[in-house]
Amino acid sequence: METKRYTVKQIAAAAADIKQGELIAFPTETVYGLGADATNPEAVKKVYAAKGRPSDNPLIVHVASVETVARYAATLSPKFKQLVETFWPGSLTIILPLKPNALASVVTGGLKTAAFRMPDNQVTLDLIQAAGVPLVGPSANTSGKPSPTTADHVLHDLNGKIAGVLDDGPTGIGLESTVIDLSVATPVILRPGVVTQEAIERVIGPIMADHHQVGASEIPKAPGMKYKHYAPNAQVYIIDQPAQFNEAIQWATEQNVPFGVMAVDDILTNQTTVRFKDQFSLGDSVVSASRHLFDGLRYFDLNPEVKIILVQGFTMVGVGVAYMNRLEKSAGQKHFQ
Ligand code: TXA
Ligand code: MG
Repeated sequence: METKRYTVKQIAAAAADIKQGELIAFPTETVYGLGADATNPEAVKKVYAAKGRPSDNPLIVHVASVETVARYAATLSPKFKQLVETFWPGSLTIILPLKPNALASVVTGGLKTAAFRMPDNQVTLDLIQAAGVPLVGPSANTSGKPSPTTADHVLHDLNGKIAGVLDDGPTGIGLESTVIDLSVATPVILRPGVVTQEAIERVIGPIMADHHQVGASEIPKAPGMKYKHYAPNAQVYIIDQPAQFNEAIQWATEQNVPFGVMAVDDILTNQTTVRFKDQFSLGDSVVSASRHLFDGLRYFDLNPEVKIILVQGFTMVGVGVAYMNRLEKSAGQKHFQ
């Protein structure tokens, strides 16, 4: 199968593929998703096959209206309504208890809950409307690779395995949505994203966060948390302080293997002491760094010679929490010291 690259003017053709049970990668404000008709179990099965994703890892159901959620969820609590009013369309995925058998177990991973999100991307909202069904949408990457932030990333991983990708250019945020579980007494953040704990607490009061690295013997609340994610071929080292870059580059140079550096422009231009081979700009802030993190990891992955990547860390405030969560996973927790 040749994977088609659809322009944003070809939503009708992409929607027709979805209705046929085919897979279409779609743009969102966070990362590209791998779309299939959430009401068609055969189509959803293909998503796991294309990604090489373990089948116990449930999928997010993408909707274009709150009414669609009401069809599947057992109840829509006041907290849900407040969150939706504030953050949808946007980067907040909400886990709710389901009506019995409302969605196939291939969508929910056999759980009695499901994750819902309304992405902030008009092309994809139009696609969902045109298809007339909600879309499952894990990130459109091969399982274990960095999430895709461009249509090229999607094609790099899935060309020939899916019917098409709807190309709306690079995504703006670059990190996957915040996942919050509202099916429990005290809501808990299972995955940090640009919608921060503080922003959520301003709307619904105190919540908890539980996105520590899950140990091998632990049963994670979000099944996806147990898998190693975002790993490039090279070993990633987190550089926590800008002042450490000189020493880190010196050390990497001594390893006598090609290495890469990912940092903000100020740091890249100030490296006068040591020359390094290859660099990738993270822009000028934690916000631009979040947008470019996965692109940078993929950039170095194209060169199998690169054995070490030094990546700038940021303080764990605001979007820094989500950025560091993803970077820690790609580094296997390795910090340079
Ligand atoms: O930004 C995003 O959320 C992107 C775009 C495409 O929307 N999607 C995405 O999907 O990141 P995915 O499948 O890569 O991540 C979904 C996460 C996984 O960690 C999964 O285990 C968790 O949400 N999840 C889904 N349904 C769940 C449920 N019912 N209970 C607990 N965790 C759930
Ligand atoms: Mg993913």
